[in-house]
Amino acid sequence: MTKERVLSGMQSSGKLHLGNLVGALSNWVRLQETYDCYYFIADWHSLTTGYAQPTEIKGSTMDLLVNFLAAGLDPEKCTIFIQSRVLQHAELHLLLSMITPLGWLERVPTYKEKQQELKDRDLSTYGFLGYPLLQTADIIVYRAKYVPVGIDQVPHLEISREIARRFNFLYGEIFPEPEALLTEFPKVVGTDGRKMSKSYDNAIYLSDGPEEVERKIRTMVTDPARVKKTDAGNPDLSPVFQLHKIFSSKEEMERLAVGCRTAEIGCIECKKVLIRNVLRVMEPIWEKREFYLRNPDIVRDIAAKGTEKARTAAEETMQLVRTAMGLD
Ligand code: TRP
Repeated sequence: MTKERVLSGMQSSGKLHLGNLVGALSNWVRLQETYDCYYFIADWHSLTTGYAQPTEIKGSTMDLLVNFLAAGLDPEKCTIFIQSRVLQHAELHLLLSMITPLGWLERVPTYKEKQQELKDRDLSTYGFLGYPLLQTADIIVYRAKYVPVGIDQVPHLEISREIARRFNFLYGEIFPEPEALLTEFPKVVGTDGRKMSKSYDNAIYLSDGPEEVERKIRTMVTDPARVKKTDAGNPDLSPVFQLHKIFSSKEEMERLAVGCRTAEIGCIECKKVLIRNVLRVMEPIWEKREFYLRNPDIVRDIAAKGTEKARTAAEETMQLVRTAMGLD
């Protein structure tokens, strides 16, 4: 039986943090066991907002590849590649642009939101408007069935489905309508209690060392009403406890929750348990990061092989597309 195809990508902008690991990457790692998975670095997408600093993208691409491998993506089980090395994405993006009404792109909520968020950059560009269209090309050029993404990407998947439908209607059934595979994991909070994010400066990065992780957790905010150790606390109001829910066992959590409410366990002790559990998750990742950072040739080789395989799969689809559109 042939496995169903899964595809997902990540932009090469900036370092990966625990939120990315728990929310996206661990899910990708799980999926590689059951599906025919294609995972890539969306360096062209990074250019849509980062076109003025292209050299940063290059460094991030290598770092992201290393993190993919360190987190457990296995080149024997999935295909890892770089978007800009598979020109078929660009060809399909161009062809899809012929049939995509401008209104569809203008209506995607992330278009205006991101422009608001990144006010310091000029995002009134053709490329930025076409962001979801390029994403559509990324997905359907592999005729992928499932796309594991976060909830924020659902509008992009929606337009991908519409475009696939429109193509099929005009030129014949080539593309399955891709479906989002939503990750069930809770939002990972950062050290200040807000969503963990690069832009909030509250993230624990995969590239942080053990001392850094320990320092960040030790200085995390807890229940703000618990000033002294003798004050009873409410674990539901503590970001530390939110992280326990992800990294600690049920027994540990119960013990700490009771200890917090009765003021028998202080915040320091509670944080120590969290530090231990987070380090246990990160240590094997650090070890692998070290290995791949010391062996960049192995990393490049994995990406080259994956890219070659992706190109073959994408080219297969493009032959059908060219024929369907009278370009053969
Ligand atoms: N837009 C996605 C994000 O920011 C990245 C991405 C680009 C992607 N192309 C994709 C995700 C194709 C899934 C499928 O997270």
